[in-house]
Amino acid sequence: MPRVIVLDTLSPEGLSLLAADPRIQFDVRTGLKGEELRTALAEYEGAICRSGVKITADSLAGNTRLKAIVRAGVGTDNIDKEAATRLGIVVMNTPVGNTISTAEHTLALMLALSRNVAPAYHALLEHRWDRNKYMGTQLADKTLGVVGLGRIGQAVATRAGALAMKVIGYDPFLSPERAAELGVRLFPTVDAMLPEIDYLTVHTPLTDETRGLFGPKQLQIVKPGARLINCARGGIYDEGTLVEGLKSGKLAGVALDVFTEEPCTDSPLFGMPGVLCTPHLGASTEEAQAQVAVEGVTLLVNFLTTGDIRHAVNMSPLDAKTLDSMRGYLDVAYRLGLLLAQLDQSTARSCRLTYRGELAEKDTKLLTASFACGLLSAAMAVEPNIVNAEVLLRERGIELTTESKSEKGAFASVMGAELVTSQGKVRAAGTLFGHDMPRLVQLNDHQLEAYLDGVLMIFPHRDVPGIIGSVGTTLGRHQVNIAQMAVGRANRGGESVGILNLDDTPPAEALAEVRAHPAIHNTTVIKLPAAGKLPSWLQSGPP
Ligand code: NAD
Ligand code: MLT
Repeated sequence: MPRVIVLDTLSPEGLSLLAADPRIQFDVRTGLKGEELRTALAEYEGAICRSGVKITADSLAGNTRLKAIVRAGVGTDNIDKEAATRLGIVVMNTPVGNTISTAEHTLALMLALSRNVAPAYHALLEHRWDRNKYMGTQLADKTLGVVGLGRIGQAVATRAGALAMKVIGYDPFLSPERAAELGVRLFPTVDAMLPEIDYLTVHTPLTDETRGLFGPKQLQIVKPGARLINCARGGIYDEGTLVEGLKSGKLAGVALDVFTEEPCTDSPLFGMPGVLCTPHLGASTEEAQAQVAVEGVTLLVNFLTTGDIRHAVNMSPLDAKTLDSMRGYLDVAYRLGLLLAQLDQSTARSCRLTYRGELAEKDTKLLTASFACGLLSAAMAVEPNIVNAEVLLRERGIELTTESKSEKGAFASVMGAELVTSQGKVRAAGTLFGHDMPRLVQLNDHQLEAYLDGVLMIFPHRDVPGIIGSVGTTLGRHQVNIAQMAVGRANRGGESVGILNLDDTPPAEALAEVRAHPAIHNTTVIKLPAAGKLPSWLQSGPP
């Protein structure tokens, strides 16, 4: 009989589901870490946790028994997913159970901040009746900026609308049509919104793009008197900048539920006027905890008793044979998605995929899902996988169409992808050399042959003598080594594109120098996984 370990406090609704199921045994063992956690995990087939326990590579080392870890909540940042995947352990989460509670907590912080609820109550505790000191502000008719309009961001936007706030937003993966349905006026960047907002709230994952999304530069341009709220992840607002903004009076208030380091019991923000903080309570409601516990237990028990996999964050439900036969092209599709998402970062509207030659005979739905994974990869709180990526794309109002043609072109198989955005259109096509060498064979109107891995520097230019030498010399001067080079041109002296595979990311000064060449139009740096490095869901077979 499979055994389950409960690693963090779970709501009674989840525990009684476990207790009532005769097909499994379970133990509640909270507060484990280090060696004690490692030996405990090795005694169970399934584990369920919240965010308290840290399941690191060390705590999974040598584990041959554990088959699944379920996170009762959204963020799986406390689980080493790569380590779990390598060991064939499925990691699942419950993405929807705490959406409403977190949205409500955001509103609670906004209201409490605006009406000085916490300091006014503190004054009463100190026997002071300070009616004049705590003058508040209304939310009605104020402008709320929402960054990240996924599940929680959308729930916040609709609720803010009901409070008669004007809602504006930024999310590169939300279509204008969906934004209009939500009553949100979309902006092209966060910075463009800042001069207009009275309140700012963020609901994105913490990524390289969102870390420090509000920093010193944003403090300069934000509307004076703005109030900032963060119920997503610590670090999205630079905490030092918040302190500066409050001290200078540029910011009227800051409310945080999440912190760069957690637990956080000491911060320069604590005690400053206009600050309101809670200890990561967004999902801490009876309803949310009951829902994530019930969803989590159901996922785990179904998996352990029937093999059913849903909401997996580190693998797809593919059987091993299909995965083996398609791995190379799934990788090409994924890399094309990553490439197009970086080539044009404005609002995505639609994608059109074409499969030509032998590829058209394969399961193109999987290839489409893999492309969608790449396209969304940088944007999601939880890395999308082949199971959920296409649905997530459609949920964001991004139209996806595919076309298959079995007649061959220049290659036995080729996959083309076109992304239409608010700014225009980008196109690319890829193929596979051998079993595992993805190649880019078309970029916009240019045919070429470039490696689809590592750091790419793309520079459209006019075909004049000396360009390659000049770019090479500039990069050499900045100690950036060129690994590969490809040029696509329509005709001599015409418009061309150069693609360099670089060993390192070129510094901004090097890019500026490259762009200073009169025949070079612009430069774009694209970061793709190293050759042979696959996303976690593409590495793993079934458990
Ligand atoms: P989600 O995946 O549904 O939505 C995230 C959205 O952010 C997506 O629509 C994505 O397109 C957008 N996005 C990504 N990068 C962006 C960028 N650079 N600029 C603008 N938008 C960007 O996730 P969710 O369930 O809504 O969760 C949002 C956040 O809230 C996550 O960080 C999650 O971990 C956190 N969370 C916190 C609590 C809490 O207790 N405080 C509870 C639940 C979730
Ligand atoms: C989540 O990711 O689900 C939230 O941060 C809430 C939690 O950690 O429980």
